[in-house]
Amino acid sequence: MTEQGEAQPAGRGAAEGAPSRAGTEIPRAERGPASTRVAVLGPGRIGRQIALAFALGGCPVVVLDLKPRPAGEAVAVFEDCCREIERDLRLMTEEEVVSAGDAAAALDRIRTSIAVEEVADCGFVQEALPEVIELKREVFRSLSGRLAPEAVIASTSSTISPSHLVEAVTGADRFLVVHWLNPAHIIPLVEVVPSPKTSEAAVARTLALLDGLGKVPVRCGDSPGFIGPRMQVLLMNEAARLVEEGVATAEDVDRAFKAGMGFRYASVGIFEFIDWGGVDVLYRASRYMANALGDPRFLPARSVEEKMERNELGPKTGRGFFDYAGEGRERFETEKVRALLRQLRRQREA
Ligand SMILES: NC(=O)c1ccc[n+]([C@@H]2O[C@H](COP(=O)([O-])OP(=O)(O)OC[C@H]3O[C@@H](n4cnc5c(N)ncnc54)[C@H](O)[C@@H]3O)[C@@H](O)[C@H]2O)c1
Repeated sequence: MTEQGEAQPAGRGAAEGAPSRAGTEIPRAERGPASTRVAVLGPGRIGRQIALAFALGGCPVVVLDLKPRPAGEAVAVFEDCCREIERDLRLMTEEEVVSAGDAAAALDRIRTSIAVEEVADCGFVQEALPEVIELKREVFRSLSGRLAPEAVIASTSSTISPSHLVEAVTGADRFLVVHWLNPAHIIPLVEVVPSPKTSEAAVARTLALLDGLGKVPVRCGDSPGFIGPRMQVLLMNEAARLVEEGVATAEDVDRAFKAGMGFRYASVGIFEFIDWGGVDVLYRASRYMANALGDPRFLPARSVEEKMERNELGPKTGRGFFDYAGEGRERFETEKVRALLRQLRRQREA
């Protein structure tokens, strides 16, 4: 199903591996049961948010702290975790994102524990341990023999390919990366990254479960950094370089980002914007930047050069990364302008 106003992907014209609009759609009938019992391993920054996201979606959740700690420290960790979850629920209620009743019900669904045996009756286990491959592997090994046969095991790694973790998991076919974005209870996107060994059944169950929570799961290939982190690592380092070089202050880079790219990309995808702005604009900007800054990392991508050669520049030539044949251009531009105007109105009203 293509949303109204969205242009169709350009068949052979689309970049290989480019996101397809049809890529991760979930038929209504397959949307996941909210009753799945979930274990979250690690009550840290993202783990507590993930627990809240599942609980808000109706899932009973146990948050496990498996770190060996002196007595009393685990209590303090869980107190901090619960305090933050309660604070986030209060903020969600105050901002009228959830009702007071739903917030109370979500809180009731969350338990904490230090007993690894708790994973036994969970249908979905979400690891949220530090981004250290060996530590994640060690904890996956400790789960061996404790999991229900049909349980899905997910790592929340921000960058690590599932194929670099899977060897430590008993039952490679039920393992994948499920990457949430901070704050996980708010941001809709969740990237779902199977390894070549992951079964389609495990992927389908994961997509359906996330969709049932009201999230926007997007499936992508087994590649370091997936979609978001790969782009974001470049963006964040470029922001740091701008400040290092004295081009702008950190405050002004943030101000420019929020008022410019942040505002735009809430309603317009990257490929949609390449097309809308014009592939030729990106091509020339890339070459100028590479030359002026003496840095080949700014050079245009191969698919951008190919689009230039084929005069597939976006709506103005009827095709870019997507098709704009017939009424496509007018429909696309009208819908994007409307979306941005609605966003502007909401921002002014806030
Ligand atoms: N923080 C973010 O913004 C964010 C966003 C997306 C994904 N991630 C990913 O999520 C994962 C967790 O990140 P985080 O920021 O929540 O980390 P964190 O340090 O806040 O939390 C990690 C958790 O792991 C536990 N832990 C630490 N050492 C352990 C051990 N030896 N044995 C068992 N448990 C141990 C800690 O008690 C803690 O609860 C990482 O892979 C990270 O890349 C983080």
